[in-house]
Amino acid sequence: DRLPELLRRMPKAELHMHIEGSLEPELMFALAARNSVQLAYPNVQALRDAYVFNNLQEFLDIYHAGTMVLKTEQDFYDMTCAYLARAQADNVLHTEIFFDTQTHTGHGLSAATVINGLHRACADAPAKFGMTASLILCFLRHLSEEEAFACLEEALPMRDKIVGIGLASSELGHPPEKFAKVFARARELGFRLVAHAGEEGPASYIWSALDVLKVERIDHGVQAFTDPALMQRLVQDKIPLTVCPLSNLKLRVYPTLAQHNLGKLLDAGIVATVNSDDPAYFGGYLNENFTQTFAALGLNSQHAYQTALNSFNASFIDASLRQKYV
Ligand code: ADE
Ligand code: ZN
Repeated sequence: DRLPELLRRMPKAELHMHIEGSLEPELMFALAARNSVQLAYPNVQALRDAYVFNNLQEFLDIYHAGTMVLKTEQDFYDMTCAYLARAQADNVLHTEIFFDTQTHTGHGLSAATVINGLHRACADAPAKFGMTASLILCFLRHLSEEEAFACLEEALPMRDKIVGIGLASSELGHPPEKFAKVFARARELGFRLVAHAGEEGPASYIWSALDVLKVERIDHGVQAFTDPALMQRLVQDKIPLTVCPLSNLKLRVYPTLAQHNLGKLLDAGIVATVNSDDPAYFGGYLNENFTQTFAALGLNSQHAYQTALNSFNASFIDASLRQKYV
């Protein structure tokens, strides 16, 4: 069977990956030592053993604890380079990296420390890793819209280093409508817009991400399958879904990969892409998401080609440059 080889070797873009979720335990311990931060676990193995989650919130709590080791611009640069090296090994030609400034400003860092470190790695990506990388700032939806406005304001001096704005963190109880005004502002400022919706939350959150926030892509979006009218809307308007199968498995959105709806979404004509979300926590980078999911669902080379093509079509790569990739 040559499908796994095809999946690994095909050129692809990654559109849904939180850089803080790429921080491997080894690097976390190295940064903890460099910055004199005490971790709650005695060693790498004990930390990895703690990566068992029953839902999104249990993951977010551990993810947040891990970010405490990030202190300097160099830390953000080093974390991003580690991810870019892994992405290059998976034949990723372009990646759009999520980050949440508020996690770090909440620990006393400045937005400039975060954004400048991340951006320096993205700027080095073509020469160092043979790929392109851009940044999407995600507001934390468990915080207030007022706090999102403050976050946007603090990022504006680094405006040119950010391609888009997204919405992440605890979904249930924090519908897109909560951020209507700040997304309208981001839109006026010319940012591309995305939002997590329909991961654990209902299809109605996908509707409001589209109609209230006016996002161009939906992150996760797998719950759309419960709403035929929404499925029709997504197909008709070619709204991409950035699907993260191993994440959905680890956070128990689906009990097994064989029950994941990626194949059904693709066969319905949805512009679905495959992504790793938080690869250090969910058991695999992009190619691992492709190979495990395609095997579990019995997907074929046509699905492989479609998801790779979708990843470039759904990206925020300049239309004029897109022909370089596909
Ligand atoms: N932040 C990091 N990973 C996330 C996910 N899967 N959903 C929501 N927020 C996140
Ligand atoms: Zn995510």
